[in-house]
Amino acid sequence: MNYLFVLGKNPVLSKAEIYHYFKNRKINFEFIKEFENILEVKTDRNIGNIIDELGGTIKIAVPLNLDELHNYEKIKIGLSVYPKSNSEYKNVKKHILNDLKKQKIKAIFSSPKFHGHTDLKHFEVLKILKKNGVEIISFDSKFYKTVQVHNPFAFKKRDVERPRQRPIYSIPPRLARIMINLVALPGQKLLDPFCGIGTILQEALISSMDVYGLDKNKKCLDDAKINLNWLGFEKFNLIEGDATKLSNYLNRDSIDVIVTEPYLGQPLKSNPSIHQAEKILNDVTKLFESFLSEAHKVMKDRAKICMITPLFVVKEGKTARINMEDLCKKTKFKIIELLPNHKSIVDAEERHKTKREIWVLEK
Ligand SMILES: C[S@@+](CC[C@H](N)C(=O)[O-])C[C@H]1O[C@@H](n2cnc3c(N)ncnc32)[C@H](O)[C@@H]1O
Repeated sequence: MNYLFVLGKNPVLSKAEIYHYFKNRKINFEFIKEFENILEVKTDRNIGNIIDELGGTIKIAVPLNLDELHNYEKIKIGLSVYPKSNSEYKNVKKHILNDLKKQKIKAIFSSPKFHGHTDLKHFEVLKILKKNGVEIISFDSKFYKTVQVHNPFAFKKRDVERPRQRPIYSIPPRLARIMINLVALPGQKLLDPFCGIGTILQEALISSMDVYGLDKNKKCLDDAKINLNWLGFEKFNLIEGDATKLSNYLNRDSIDVIVTEPYLGQPLKSNPSIHQAEKILNDVTKLFESFLSEAHKVMKDRAKICMITPLFVVKEGKTARINMEDLCKKTKFKIIELLPNHKSIVDAEERHKTKREIWVLEK
């Protein structure tokens, strides 16, 4: 079966998530076609309700022949055209409405809410599906029917409605989930050694993992406990401690996977100078080296780490980042490509002064 994945705001990272999600589960798959935020995947497996497990996919659709709609007398229809083209949108809309008319189906057409858009947002599609309607996607002159939609409200609730918040330092649940999918499987023992208020832990618990969170800040751990309890979880392990001394708290060769956003330096109000950026990178490199050396001791053989490091666009215009090759050489880890020719992927918005660079390492 072919599935069309409509990817979120970082399509490269979303693609890497899907790639590793299938690969880690040993599911046969092939990327058939890719264009901007669209990825067509072929797999012989039923993918189930995968959208709830992914952090970077907005919609999933399957091929559609318009004749398949013949059972309807009246139908609510939405249309998304990728890649964006207003003239193509008008033509396709006309074609669909004519076809439905020929089939004697009364169509109630739902246009994109945002002016000039040629595609529907997830909340618009959710509304259509709720009324037993159909979202038709037109991509590369073919039709698809949306069968799964990302529920943005569930992620938002797990982010902004948590009883304990720490906005500047917390990772978005969407990104936490993507990182987990890059390296982990349900049932595994996951460690976040810089767990803060527990965002990665919460997403791992939702994925049925056995979680260990460590932080040197007792208040963070108290808040993580409150947040995890609020989500209905009671069984997890929180340790007050130093990530550079992991082997003091955890057994050797005991951890299946580490997913973490470590300390990335103090929050910045503007882009740093090259001198400032180098100072921050030097400091965090020392922290990462000690942490990775200890991680090596507590992780099982070939266990993986998905971690974030800071990246800066400095005032002078250049990019300043961690030397991961050097760090891995010193700590005996191997860099695993997230996608062919992508040793790392940056996830950041223009306004972020400290940008997140995502890596996968293997013991
Ligand atoms: C960027 S925050 C992590 C945020 C977390 N992902 C969340 O969503 O809440 C980094 C965390 O690392 C902790 N930290 C810094 N140095 C540490 C160390 N050496 N050992 C353990 N925790 C440390 C800080 O207390 C902070 O909570």
